Amino acid sequence: MIILGIESSCDETGIALYDQEQGLLAHALHSQIDMHAEYGGVVPELASRDHVRRTLPLIQRVLDEAKLTLADIGGIAYTQGPGLAGALLVGTSIAESLAFTLNVPTVGVHHLEGHLLAPLLEANPPAFPFVALLVSGGHTQLMRVGGIGDYTLLGDTLDDAAGEAFDKTAKLLGLSYPGGPAVSRLADLGTPGRFKLPRPMLNSGDLNFSFSGLKTAVLTLVNDHSDADGILDEQTKADIALEFQEAVTEVLTAKCMAALRETGLDQLVVSGGVGANRQLREKLNRATKRRLCHVHYPRLEFCTDNGAMIAFAGAMRMQHETAGDHGFSVRPRWDL
Ligand code: KG4
Ligand code: ZN
Repeated sequence: MIILGIESSCDETGIALYDQEQGLLAHALHSQIDMHAEYGGVVPELASRDHVRRTLPLIQRVLDEAKLTLADIGGIAYTQGPGLAGALLVGTSIAESLAFTLNVPTVGVHHLEGHLLAPLLEANPPAFPFVALLVSGGHTQLMRVGGIGDYTLLGDTLDDAAGEAFDKTAKLLGLSYPGGPAVSRLADLGTPGRFKLPRPMLNSGDLNFSFSGLKTAVLTLVNDHSDADGILDEQTKADIALEFQEAVTEVLTAKCMAALRETGLDQLVVSGGVGANRQLREKLNRATKRRLCHVHYPRLEFCTDNGAMIAFAGAMRMQHETAGDHGFSVRPRWDL
């Protein structure tokens, strides 16, 4: 069966076709980053309106790419939450009305389950069970994944998510939205060892995280090194970016290794936007290799929001769940 996947929870419209036998057939994405950049963050109403404009043309584009028509779609998976209510409503209402006219089943997917399962779209996917690190703009969680729907929370952030810390640090350094890639690019120009930031919760003895103190420590550095006009020189910005990235990636890596140790598992899966961070990947690759464990990532374009992960999670869900009646609701707040 061919599943159409629709992601519209935030600022990307992601559409994909996933065949339960042949795998991913086509995917397309429209990012609204440029549209929101001048506001320094996502404007919910603009996001919803853009999803309205983009969704149907993108569905047509993936169908054309896969040389298929609407009649070939056997089911529709869409992000039901969590996310921006208006943005979710666009994807959800298009999915349910299309499914009603095509007379095919739907499944409302949890956005984080999409991220969590995204690494399984790659060649040589890990078998269950594994430990998953979910690091996005809204979440920083460690989970034990026993199978589809079998998720045990091992650790969580007590305050800011790692991606949020990247975004806030970017703002403090005067960088553009989204902050993660901008901080990471600047860090490449930094001098190692010039600054030393705290490693929050590194020795807390549990698998939880906390990143808000790090943001405050960055603010102190910025204030201490700005001139009388509040201007920070470019090298100092890069040195702060480097040390900030070191602190976050060191803590994330240490907690992943602790989670593998505590669960006795030897496979780690990393997903969500911060999973695209090169420093994080290098640290995790080294640490897992040392301990004879394996780490799996989605391809870079599937680290951030996309339709492929929703089509895939929906395809897995449809093997277990019965179809609804095409009535719908969104779940802007929703625990996995
Ligand atoms: O998963 P995602 O696309 O959206 C959700 O939050 O669900 O993640 C976006 C987050 C943003 O905070 C962004 O700054 C961060 O991921 N991010 C990165 C990188 N690319 C994206 N953070 C660090 N390094 C990156 N290369
Ligand atoms: Zn996401």
